[in-house]
Amino acid sequence: MGKGFFISKTVGIVGIVLGAGAVATIIALSVVYSQEKSRNNEVQPTTTTTTTSPTTTPTTVATAAVTTEGAVTTEAATTAPSNEPWDQWRLPHTLSPQTYNVTLWPRLQEDENKLYIFTGHSSVIFTCLEKTDLILIHSNKLNMTKDPVLTTLGSGSAPTIISHMLYPKTQYLVIKLNEELTAGESYELYTEFQGELADDLGGFYRSEYFEKDVKKVVATTQMQPTDARKAFPCFDEPAMKAVFHITLLHDPGTTALSNGVVIDEVEVTMDDTALIKTTFAPTEKMSTYLLAFIVSEFISIEENIDGLQIRIFARNEAINSGQGDYALNTTGPILKFFERYYNVSYPLPKSDQIALPDFNAGAMENWGLITYRETALLYDKDISSNGNKERVVTVIAHELAHQWFGNLVTIKWWNDLWLNEGFASYVEYLGAHEAEPDWNIKDLIVLNDVHRVFAIDALASSHPLSSKEEDVQRPEQISEVFDAISYSKGASVLRMLSFFLTEKLFTRGLQTYLDHFKFNNTVYTDLWDHLQMAVNETETDLPKSVRDIMDRWVLQMGFPVVTIDTATGQISQEHFLLDPTTKPEPSDFNYEWYVPISWKKPDAQKPIYWLLQKNAEFEDMKTNTDEWVLANIDVNGYYRVNYDNANWERLLNVLKTSRTSIPVLNRAQLIDDAFNLAKAGIVPTTLALRTTLFLSGETEYIPWESALKNLDYFYLMFDRSDVYGLMQDYVKTQVTPLFEHFTKLTSWENVPNGHTDQYNQVNALRVACSTGLEDCKTLVKNWFEKWMENPTVNPIHANLRSTVYCNAIATGGAKEWDFAWDMFDKATVAAEKDKLRAALACATQPWLLNRYLGYTLDPSKIRKQDATSTITTIAGNVVGQSLAWDFVRANWEYIFNQFSTEFELKQLMQFRDDFAHIGFGSGTLAIQQSIERTQANINWVDQNKEQIAEWFKNPV
Ligand SMILES: *[C@@H]1O[C@H](CO)[C@@H](O)[C@H](O)[C@H]1NC(C)=O
Ligand SMILES: *[C@@H]1O[C@H](CO)[C@@H](O)[C@H](O)[C@H]1NC(C)=O
Ligand SMILES: *[C@@H]1O[C@H](CO)[C@@H](O)[C@H](O)[C@H]1NC(C)=O
Ligand SMILES: *[C@@H]1O[C@H](CO)[C@@H](O)[C@H](O)[C@H]1NC(C)=O
Ligand SMILES: [Zn+2]
Repeated sequence: MGKGFFISKTVGIVGIVLGAGAVATIIALSVVYSQEKSRNNEVQPTTTTTTTSPTTTPTTVATAAVTTEGAVTTEAATTAPSNEPWDQWRLPHTLSPQTYNVTLWPRLQEDENKLYIFTGHSSVIFTCLEKTDLILIHSNKLNMTKDPVLTTLGSGSAPTIISHMLYPKTQYLVIKLNEELTAGESYELYTEFQGELADDLGGFYRSEYFEKDVKKVVATTQMQPTDARKAFPCFDEPAMKAVFHITLLHDPGTTALSNGVVIDEVEVTMDDTALIKTTFAPTEKMSTYLLAFIVSEFISIEENIDGLQIRIFARNEAINSGQGDYALNTTGPILKFFERYYNVSYPLPKSDQIALPDFNAGAMENWGLITYRETALLYDKDISSNGNKERVVTVIAHELAHQWFGNLVTIKWWNDLWLNEGFASYVEYLGAHEAEPDWNIKDLIVLNDVHRVFAIDALASSHPLSSKEEDVQRPEQISEVFDAISYSKGASVLRMLSFFLTEKLFTRGLQTYLDHFKFNNTVYTDLWDHLQMAVNETETDLPKSVRDIMDRWVLQMGFPVVTIDTATGQISQEHFLLDPTTKPEPSDFNYEWYVPISWKKPDAQKPIYWLLQKNAEFEDMKTNTDEWVLANIDVNGYYRVNYDNANWERLLNVLKTSRTSIPVLNRAQLIDDAFNLAKAGIVPTTLALRTTLFLSGETEYIPWESALKNLDYFYLMFDRSDVYGLMQDYVKTQVTPLFEHFTKLTSWENVPNGHTDQYNQVNALRVACSTGLEDCKTLVKNWFEKWMENPTVNPIHANLRSTVYCNAIATGGAKEWDFAWDMFDKATVAAEKDKLRAALACATQPWLLNRYLGYTLDPSKIRKQDATSTITTIAGNVVGQSLAWDFVRANWEYIFNQFSTEFELKQLMQFRDDFAHIGFGSGTLAIQQSIERTQANINWVDQNKEQIAEWFKNPV
């Protein structure tokens, strides 16, 4: 799935009325939101006047189906183990599906019971591998409308079905036979069923939107990871690949889409209703979680590249206003790039991509029919920002990457999900670079993935990339592996692997891996084996096998801080923990890694040095007094670096006098390393603050963004204390030259050409305004006033809108807020709606925020998929924090936010204890991590407040 999935899926809620059993899960899950907040960046939780940052993808948080049963079933499963085969979460190895014929008829109108339903029938041909008198096939929330029928494809007659039952706990249809099926024989099981086309964003579900005030209903799917069984009975595990013949029945005037191309379309009459029956070509051999069925009134644009049909589908209005054009323009080049990269042609005859008004994940890589949130596929050149554009191109690249890696070759089981998602999260940058070669987009992985996941992976409650198969069994355990570790650490570690192998060897191994396992399933070590084969074909000198090296990064959590003493040449490594008082679980590898250290001295880049033990001595890293050493060049390794004091001083000096002799990514890295080492008590906090001094002369985005993110933590910790004012003054001094730089460059009438320069222009505006620079405040106020005078002409450049809206609403009152709400209500472009929705949370008057919180309970005001993220956004505002906290307890009893006082921590622990007997479902780990982080925050503030205040008074 696309990025952003792991925030949304684990955390959502459906339905306003929640049973008591769900509450605990909701509370725990809400913590995930807060955890992901720093990553999410919709709103910078710093000052009352800060704003949304368009600098990273506006990953919106969504809702998902966490049912009341979810929490209850979990409990039942853990307390009442049973040895019945249908009490096992995994399918037995007795049956193997070959082909399915599935016919589905979704009703896009309510029935007499005010229910949206679908009906269907399906037959599956399976081979019996081991004799058994039991058929277990997944089926969830489906009612059987006829008794299942079993026939044999061999000679003789099939066993007789003596009973069948639905077993909701493990989501099986259980069929008992009078005698055993024969190993080696094939059988056909026929079922007829009925399900609800609910608005729960999972399985076969419905999405609604309005076109010219007429309500339209779309039937669509989201199967990954375990919801294909909600659409039809199936062997719903990724290794149970089969060929699917899909047929959809639908109203005239609607279009039906699925994974395959349409091979037949006829008019039929069913139950006195005139319908279209659309039949699709059989799929390739594939996993159930990659299926998709969609019925809509959407329209499309298309092009043909070397015989391959590429189409973009969306709402009429969106397509007609050109919002699909950018996606269509970029898909071809990205597909062609991946064909070369993988050395395998695109495996299907068509590629459809569709933007849905209600969609839980960011996007889903269904084979040949990729589904997206509107903001992840649609781009309006007048209204969308360059951040929105980057989101579109990277999500497209991510999903297209999966068409091979994930779809053609699929992981055997969900415990290896990190390989699938980590890989796509890495190569999405390579694909996007192909479409936008001038953006330097590959550099952004450092901010968006490496830095993001460092923050989580430095906790003692983190977890290894790889999980054991037996630990990932139940649907909520499967959902839990879709987290930042899988996506961003996976991406970071694979990028490091590609770096030390070289891209040439990395792709060579990848290509033979794909070729060997096409239409089949793998475990992650299969990739290591193929990379090793590529290494063995050359003279490459690796100190250990690929597998030995990678085991240390994959099987143990966390990462090292490498310490280089340039006086002695001593190099050592240590498990980096943000809170050094926490004790992680023991590791088989003793928290030591094989670290590929790239490094340079002022004159030259050096060959990789491999640190293979805890301590080593390396003469070359000794320096003269005028030399410096810089390690982890371009942050190609997944580790932090610390130096002896003298080398730090020399590096600080270079930053000040000739900063360009340090690569731009390392300028960002020195800041990020220093701040985090300081948080862990390894270097003084004043050293960290000193790494930001050079910014007064810096215009590059990446170092600025790194510093602003780190300073955000200070804002968060000190926003209620006297350090706040001192810090504001310092940041204002630092940002003023940047603001003036952009004034000179653009007069604030247009935007710079460079992609990241555009981001930094926004930073300059945001930070200058939030630290009170008068020129900035005047500028922003005038823009917004001009817009209010003439709402039909928005004079604010798309890139700057988030910042301007937020500032205007923060400094304004009800008039500004109501105007923005009105504009939000009328906006027809999802990206614009998201910007306004986030900015509305910037208000500083409590009653406005309280009213806004109330709106999140009303789906006619705030879409259900956006409710939780809206509350989280409000909680990110200093004024909104306590309001949201109260609101959440009073209404849905959610909790979230950074718990930085003892009181908040106690409340969180109390929640944990109160609901321990029910369990926290997939939020268990999240709640533990949140408690740990809060404790670390409290300790840090206690220890650092004084010296930080002193430094800001005299910043040198
Ligand atoms: C499935 O459908 C295809 C064509 O739609 C047909 O040829 C085939 O016989 C069907 N198979 C089963 C098992 O019903
Ligand atoms: C399935 O059956 C249950 C119990 O009879 C009923 O409450 C539910 O509405 C049915 N669902 C559908 C989609 O028909
Ligand atoms: C798509 O490509 C066409 C042709 O190159 C170009 O004119 C148009 O501006 C592009 N649209 C977008 C949104 O990139
Ligand atoms: C799939 O891979 C396994 C080894 O992992 C192999 O035994 C099997 O034959 C392969 N199946 C196909 C259809 O290639
Ligand atoms: Zn993905």
